[in-house]
Amino acid sequence: MNKTILVTGGMGYIGSHTVVELLNKGYEVVVIDNLSNSKISVVGRVEEITSKSFKFYELDLLDKPAVDEVFAENKIDAVIHFAGFKAVGESVAEPLKYYHNNIVSTLNLLDVMQKFDCKNFVFSSSATVYGMNNPVPFIEYMPLSTTSPYGATKLMLENILRDFQCANLSFNVSCLRYFNPVGAHESGIIGEDPEGIPNNLMPYIGQVGSGKLKELSVFGGDYETADGTGVRDYIHVVDLANGHILALEKLFKTQPSWEAYNIGSGKGSSVIELVKAYEKALGKSIPYKVVARRQGDVAEMCADVTKAKKELGFETVKMIEDICKDMVRWQSFVKDNNI
Ligand code: WQD
Repeated sequence: MNKTILVTGGMGYIGSHTVVELLNKGYEVVVIDNLSNSKISVVGRVEEITSKSFKFYELDLLDKPAVDEVFAENKIDAVIHFAGFKAVGESVAEPLKYYHNNIVSTLNLLDVMQKFDCKNFVFSSSATVYGMNNPVPFIEYMPLSTTSPYGATKLMLENILRDFQCANLSFNVSCLRYFNPVGAHESGIIGEDPEGIPNNLMPYIGQVGSGKLKELSVFGGDYETADGTGVRDYIHVVDLANGHILALEKLFKTQPSWEAYNIGSGKGSSVIELVKAYEKALGKSIPYKVVARRQGDVAEMCADVTKAKKELGFETVKMIEDICKDMVRWQSFVKDNNI
């Protein structure tokens, strides 16, 4: 009997790519999503890519009785928990919204998992928990700190999960600390689809390339990096999705524990390097101007992926060229279909 995986936030950017990989690998999938940062049309597009169907519940994890019903109706073997607010800037402006939503929804989920004896949990954490004072590349044992309410919810939830696992030794947790998820599925029909003006670099470049936005502002050209622009560890969203599958499979095979893993490429790329790579994939230039640094940015973030490689067998396959090629395809789908 195939295992059934509950994916919260499963119609979002990373969630939908993970659902595709789960279905392709033969898992039964149940998705909970309140569609606050995703679209119902993604359900059909995921089914089109995989030629498989899955159960979808449009509900909010804050509605605990509704979450209880999902577990009553489905024998859930593991949960991959993506659902949560994730805009750093918005979290600074509206901290209570972030603490309430991200923390309470996860507490509800854990309560219901405990009631139904569901013991396996993959948590969507973030490299933001490494704060501003660690040397790169970041390693899982480094001291953690955060610089935004969004980041604080991720660190708090890692600690809540650690305490819960200590008190319930059969509970099995993997916290995946993402670096910079980018790119889109090769089909070109699912990808990152942010509301309004994108905060993140790649979707912004994509919209300049499609003509939706006029020009990229490069935040800072005077960092202590090779070309003066910020360096980040960009990971193709399909590689990231497969990292979740590997973390899940490790939960099914090993003794219960609490573990954190860096999920990144292990390589840094600068803003300008990304612009140039995108221009090559697009076949036309991306206009940009260098402006002042963005508050809160660090010069460089990059993952040490030794632990994930050793314990999960994880390593990225896709390169920056694949990321840009897949982004170009997705952006033309968005434009042609007025997504
Ligand atoms: C990347 C680089 C910018 C936009 C964020 C969150 C982090 C995680 C991933 C959730 C930086 C530069 C950006 C632009 C630019 N999200 N940039 N012009 O800040 O590394 O990480 O997303 O977990 O929590 O903080 O990603 O894409 O915003 O920035 O020059 O219009 O691109 O300065 O060097 P970031 P980003």
